[in-house]
Amino acid sequence: MTINFDSEDIGSNTSNNRTFDDVLTAYTSRRTVIAGGLATAAFMFAGASVAKASAVEPTKRTAAGVVSRKRPPIDFTSIPLQNSPMPTIAPEYKYDVMIPWRTRLDGKGEFPYGLTSEQQAQSVGLGHDGIWYFGDNRKGMLAINFEYGTTPHFSGKAVPTSLEEVRISQHLHGVGVMYVEKGPKGWALKKDKRNRRIHVNTPVTFSGPAAGSALLVNTAGNEALGTLNNCANGYTPWGTYLTCEENFNGYFGSTNPSWKATAEETRYGVSANGFGYAWHQFDPRFDRSQPGYANEINRYGWVVEIDPENPKAKPIKRTALGRIKHEGAEVVVGKGNRVVVYMGDDERFDYIYKFVSTRDYKKMVAAGKSPLDEGTLYAARFNDNGTGDWLELSPRNPALASWSIDKILVHTRLAADLAGATKMDRPEWISTGADGWQYGTLTNNTNRGRTGRPGVNAANPIRQNSSGHIIRWKDSDGNLGGTFEWNLFLISQETFDEGGQMYGSPDGIWGDPDGRIFIQTDGTQPGGNNDQMLVADSKTKEVKRIFTGVAGCEVTGVAVTPDRKTMFVNLQHPGDGDPKISNFPAPFTGAGGPVPRDCTIVITRKDGGVIGS
Ligand code: FEO
Ligand code: CA
Ligand code: CA
Repeated sequence: MTINFDSEDIGSNTSNNRTFDDVLTAYTSRRTVIAGGLATAAFMFAGASVAKASAVEPTKRTAAGVVSRKRPPIDFTSIPLQNSPMPTIAPEYKYDVMIPWRTRLDGKGEFPYGLTSEQQAQSVGLGHDGIWYFGDNRKGMLAINFEYGTTPHFSGKAVPTSLEEVRISQHLHGVGVMYVEKGPKGWALKKDKRNRRIHVNTPVTFSGPAAGSALLVNTAGNEALGTLNNCANGYTPWGTYLTCEENFNGYFGSTNPSWKATAEETRYGVSANGFGYAWHQFDPRFDRSQPGYANEINRYGWVVEIDPENPKAKPIKRTALGRIKHEGAEVVVGKGNRVVVYMGDDERFDYIYKFVSTRDYKKMVAAGKSPLDEGTLYAARFNDNGTGDWLELSPRNPALASWSIDKILVHTRLAADLAGATKMDRPEWISTGADGWQYGTLTNNTNRGRTGRPGVNAANPIRQNSSGHIIRWKDSDGNLGGTFEWNLFLISQETFDEGGQMYGSPDGIWGDPDGRIFIQTDGTQPGGNNDQMLVADSKTKEVKRIFTGVAGCEVTGVAVTPDRKTMFVNLQHPGDGDPKISNFPAPFTGAGGPVPRDCTIVITRKDGGVIGS
């Protein structure tokens, strides 16, 4: 998110690993790590074939999508940047709107603006973000994150003035699991016994090495509740959804002016006022000065597993994957059927992580064990010569010999500081391309290279990087290895078409089985235009613009039907929730029009083709 109290970029990493001096000389050599070694703007123009392909022929993916041996071109008309109050889409495509905020889960239409907390807990939330679809080409279960919604958006007030308003806000957040199907009027939510909302007050459970830790227990004795700030996501080969808790810090505050953040809280950006949600004024769970709830903060910042087929199953927080500001969780089946999970921690100068399961996931699932509970967590070090190392985050690492495993998993950022991971330019989504490489967005970092802040390095080569870049890497040993090779896929400020720089602030990313990379943006776009979705060719680096959002929105989340002829993406915070900016999905009429609503966009190709072709 990028609105007024965005704190993804407050930059709370003041650890001393990876200093400016370490990497100063790397800057001049960074050009050599760009694929093909060609990096001038002229070579980055859309349509130019720039790279000696490092990619190999498309290979079979483990989950979504069909196998394709021939890589078709990106054969649509790239549209210009837009600043309109309504979306635009390439002429070969069309879009429909589905499940806007306040859509009832019982299939009976919508609740009106001004709904109660009870009604909000039974309807679609705000902040549509990560999304995944479990179904066939016409019907299935959709799991979707509701990242956040501001108090002005849902109530018109600056801050909540009662516990009921706090509860509405809390029920806006979380996850929706809902049955959707394609009918004569397009895709829509239908009544189904599996439909459910998970929000900030839903009972959850902890699993994995830190589950029994004293760091997760409050003297108040309150049960574990809720998930919040659910940003990007993942899905597993065993059919579950992974939702990731990102900026959890912003929902906590203090009613006591003399409260001071601990070193751990400071590293996670916890402050007396948070992001302005003011939940702590009415709900003691979120008040850092309440001693009975001292460890409540440690219950957030996890990857949470949800079974979309079982509405009675509690969401499970998988502690083995560490506690960070989790952006997403990209699951790959590695050598020997061991699952590997790639994860970004979205903050200036924070890290990229991976988890490797101990054993064959099929055997673990058959034995009733979660592959996400037993394994090893690592943080990435990107060396300046195009190689990298995965730094183990366990007491086996000499830098962490005095740390217990539960302390490492709860205070993961501090452990990764000691391990010496590379400070990145805000790691957002990670997705696996058809070439088997992981593609990770680094959205921006305007503090890179400023006085007193870490300088450039080969993996983060732009000083005051306002537009971000996309990095990719390939692990050794079938994704299990401790080393990798990497290069830079696209540098936003060097990616042009006839209209100039094409995009900034890459965030959502998805690689399809044909070698296309879908890129979604969240942040300042060239010319102050709207956020957008682009399609890039992983081999040639050709980039085309397929979709632009509305003023004030973010375009995020991507899921497809198995035939990839339907794509679901999300418009988050259209108009930043302000009807003066947008009334979307209603046509724009201005301040007197409806409050804009976050919603899912259903994209199809007019000729029925694969999305992106
Ligand atoms: Fe919620 Fe980092 O985007
Ligand atoms: Ca973002
Ligand atoms: Ca994001």
